[in-house]
Amino acid sequence: MASIFNSLDQRDVLLASVFAGLSVWVIYKRYASKSTSLLNGAPKDTQLASQLTGKPPVATQQHEPGEWIPVPFNYPSVAPCADDPRSIKPIPYRPFKWGEYHVTMGIRSMAWDEWFELDDQFIDYHRIREHRLRTRGDRLVQVLPPTPGLVNGGFDAATELVQEMAEYLSRRYPTTYTVKRSEDVTGSGWYGLPSIKEITIVPVGKTYKVDAEDPMTLAGTLVQEDIAIMIEGSDGRYYLQAGAIVIPGMWRLQDKIGMSLDDIHVSGTVPQFESKLQLSMSRFFRRMPVDKPVTRTNYSLQIVAHPDIADPIDPNELSWAKTMKGDEEDEDNKPGFMNVNDSHGPTRQTSGGGNGNRFVITDLVNSTSAVDPSLVRMRVERQTLRRLPRTGAIIFGIRTYLTPLEDLASEPEVPGRLASAIRSWPEDVALYKARAAFESVLGYLDERHAGQVACGLISNSSTEPRA
Ligand code: HEM
Repeated sequence: MASIFNSLDQRDVLLASVFAGLSVWVIYKRYASKSTSLLNGAPKDTQLASQLTGKPPVATQQHEPGEWIPVPFNYPSVAPCADDPRSIKPIPYRPFKWGEYHVTMGIRSMAWDEWFELDDQFIDYHRIREHRLRTRGDRLVQVLPPTPGLVNGGFDAATELVQEMAEYLSRRYPTTYTVKRSEDVTGSGWYGLPSIKEITIVPVGKTYKVDAEDPMTLAGTLVQEDIAIMIEGSDGRYYLQAGAIVIPGMWRLQDKIGMSLDDIHVSGTVPQFESKLQLSMSRFFRRMPVDKPVTRTNYSLQIVAHPDIADPIDPNELSWAKTMKGDEEDEDNKPGFMNVNDSHGPTRQTSGGGNGNRFVITDLVNSTSAVDPSLVRMRVERQTLRRLPRTGAIIFGIRTYLTPLEDLASEPEVPGRLASAIRSWPEDVALYKARAAFESVLGYLDERHAGQVACGLISNSSTEPRA
């Protein structure tokens, strides 16, 4: 009996080993054939192990540069938004602080329910975005082909993105977006469902065929956000390989498309980029896992045209800061430092690829006359970063909020805090954000702050603006 058991054991072990070997080979072949690898290299043992265990490979940083092997990933369940977006006020992001200003990456983790945000401005944004896509879509939406040996093209990532967006949006805002799924039950949608073939934006009564439309244009049509797609190259750098940058305000996709993350920022002469941001940003991008999306915010001030001469379609200059930047079509309208005298410092010439004029408002900037506060807007961007599981592309969402300065100035504590923040910009940041144009605004904010203290709305003397 013992020998029968022994020989059975041995045969079982042998069979089990052959079966396990075959399974590993099948799974390996399946993932390797789906790989977006540039180098056609075999997957790393760690990645294979994570595929075999079915756990998302949190350590996605282990991949070879430019290689991505699709990872199994279920988007955490999305709670439907409790309110109808038509009744949601824009979230009042006020991302400026009292006291010293530091250039940092400033990222925080993003709640899965907050990938894209909708509010009562959706219809207005959609009208402006749709008009711009129709009239100048070739410049606002671009998808690059691969650069052989360096980086993949943007099309596959855009295709994955638009499916992900349709899945997310129809769950998060079910009264705004409805979808129809394909009859094909292979289950390439979320949670094993068939993929989405049609999406309707209910409040504007428009239906789009998800698999027939240009994916990048559709992605830029569905939401209030602009979207950039960053793809890792074989040199480990991330490249802007596709985007729908429809309402950017102060930069143009046509000037940045195909650039690496470093070159995008260096050509824009982003203050302290090399000293404070470059290293941590490239490390962050390389290591970013699929299960840890992040968000960051920034802000700037913008002067807009008087209502009498404003563009009727976009009077707040949401899409393009014409009053500050000049004509969007202007060939010379490249990014870079403004080449004018900041009242607090010397003329700063551009470094990097810019041509020296971030703003073309030298008359505005050098003017001593006060800016009418009713023409000033605060421009806040809420940016999100999420890595897609199939292509490994990093999706950069940019949601812009424009708030009239006069509205901000009536919020408790805000005028004092904003004045303090503007005063604390270091010289390079002050140039980048055109502080010289807003000197008179500081006086206005101080007055409003003093008024709030006088009427007892705020009391903390430690929050008073610096003289
Ligand atoms: C962790 C990620 C990122 C960080 C920390 C970061 C940081 C910054 C900072 C500090 C600025 C100056 C304005 C501000 O205060 O925000 C800036 C500007 C800019 N960033 Fe980024 N950025 C990131 C990702 C990206 C990505 C993925 C893109 C891809 C399109 C991008 C494109 C730009 C552009 C176009 C500008 C304006 C440059 C100009 O003025 O010409 N950034 N970024």
